[in-house]
Amino acid sequence: MQDASKHYINGQWVASIDGREMAVENPSTEQKIATITLGGVADADAAVAAAKAAFPAWAATDPLDRIAALERLMEVYKGQAEDMAQAISFEMGAPIALARTAQVGAGAGHLKNTIRTAKGFAFERPLGDHAPCDMILYEPVGVCALITPWNWPMNQVMLKVVPALAAGCTMVLKPAEQAPLSAVLLAEMIDAAGFPPGVFNLVNGDGAGVGAHLTAHPDVNMVSFTGSTRAGVAISKAAADTVKRVSLELGGKGANIIFADADEKAVTRGVRHCFNNSGQSCNAPTRMLVERSIYDHAIETARAVAEKTEVGPADIEGRQIGPVVSETQFNKIQYLIKRGIDEHATLIAGGLERPDGLNRGHFVRPTIFADVTPEMTIWKEEIFGPVLTMTPFDSEEEAIALANDTPYGLTNYVQTADKSRARRLARGLRSGMVEMNGKFGAPGTPFGGMKQSGTGREGGVWGLEEFLEVKAVTDWGRSWQRFF
Ligand code: NAI
Ligand code: MG
Repeated sequence: MQDASKHYINGQWVASIDGREMAVENPSTEQKIATITLGGVADADAAVAAAKAAFPAWAATDPLDRIAALERLMEVYKGQAEDMAQAISFEMGAPIALARTAQVGAGAGHLKNTIRTAKGFAFERPLGDHAPCDMILYEPVGVCALITPWNWPMNQVMLKVVPALAAGCTMVLKPAEQAPLSAVLLAEMIDAAGFPPGVFNLVNGDGAGVGAHLTAHPDVNMVSFTGSTRAGVAISKAAADTVKRVSLELGGKGANIIFADADEKAVTRGVRHCFNNSGQSCNAPTRMLVERSIYDHAIETARAVAEKTEVGPADIEGRQIGPVVSETQFNKIQYLIKRGIDEHATLIAGGLERPDGLNRGHFVRPTIFADVTPEMTIWKEEIFGPVLTMTPFDSEEEAIALANDTPYGLTNYVQTADKSRARRLARGLRSGMVEMNGKFGAPGTPFGGMKQSGTGREGGVWGLEEFLEVKAVTDWGRSWQRFF
């Protein structure tokens, strides 16, 4: 792989002007695996200048040419899928099997689906039958700052980079400093796919440095961010002075509502889903709400699943869960588990400290608390580790009220055989997504949240429109007359 200490600006790998070194750590071993440079203001400025200079020509390209470039990128990405899986597994600790499938696959899926969406998208269309001479043009927003987290690196990077490229935007990507290697590899792939210099730029850095500078930069027209609600608030404020478009995909505290008539795998599936990727997913179903008549049985099932969940290093081939990304995250999770114990939730599996036999690496015990109530810290705060809470409910209305009792609103889950009840729940839950009976959304589903889970949607036609401005033009001529 490319020397990760460099930035990719204007089609070249360049040394940092004013950055400082940072070691990237393997969270399974706590050993240093690479050195990156946390860029400074001059590095970020150089990348924005390159993106600004490249914008007029890239914005004017035929969408079909942009799609052709994305199809070349798709070929390169597929050809280096194993390298990408290794990079992700190394930098953030996803077990290699998960990295090869879900982690790398998410990136490939977004590429494929965005290409399909762009092919079917009318970038120029008449206002309507009543106004045949009024034209609507969808035009790229401009220079975009794309700021991403470490938990699903290629998922989140591709959800931003690909629609931005398809729309005709130019961009500066700042990936998470904990997991920058997959993004460096992607930059090499974009280079190999032959995009014009300056269209895509990568600057490594931290949030306070490059992240904050890009967000306030007068030549950046849009910020697309995925990460914590804390950073989302800071970004919104910093972007306000220059009236940027801001798209935010933030945290979650998803409820998984399990009724007595749910299929028999519902509890097991819910626990596994919560622990997947070591619990580091914004849409994880972290609050399991169980109808009281099956609550005790559900607790026993959940305990058994947690006790059978293996934890181990990312490079072992298997279905284990890996470490969490960093010591900071490990400490945050330990603190929240301690709060759960101190506030008298019933600990039924896992708990504090590392699992037995693991003395190095940021490994967390798969943990379940029962009898969790809305006053408790672990009900309120996003834990972002393999920690599930369980709470009984007596009625459908109570289940909805409990599920909605959070500042977040990303994904909620419902398990029931009763279709009319499922639809009442779907309408009553305040979240951007509701997943029924273990069925994931199809390709092109809009991903995003309500309330403090964010603004905006990624994926599909919604994800493309995020990067487009709407321009209304009069006296265009009749829409069936094409003047070129
Ligand atoms: P974070 O929000 O601080 O970091 C995410 C990205 O934002 C990184 O690239 C970081 O450098 C950047 N960033 C941070 N502050 C910024 C600022 N003021 N301006 C511009 N960019 C900024 O998240 P962190 O500290 O890594 O994780 C903390 C918690 O956030 C997690 O425990 C979890 O609860 C939540 N989180 C949610 C994610 C999601 O998928 N929605 C992803 C990662 C974290
Ligand atoms: Mg942070």
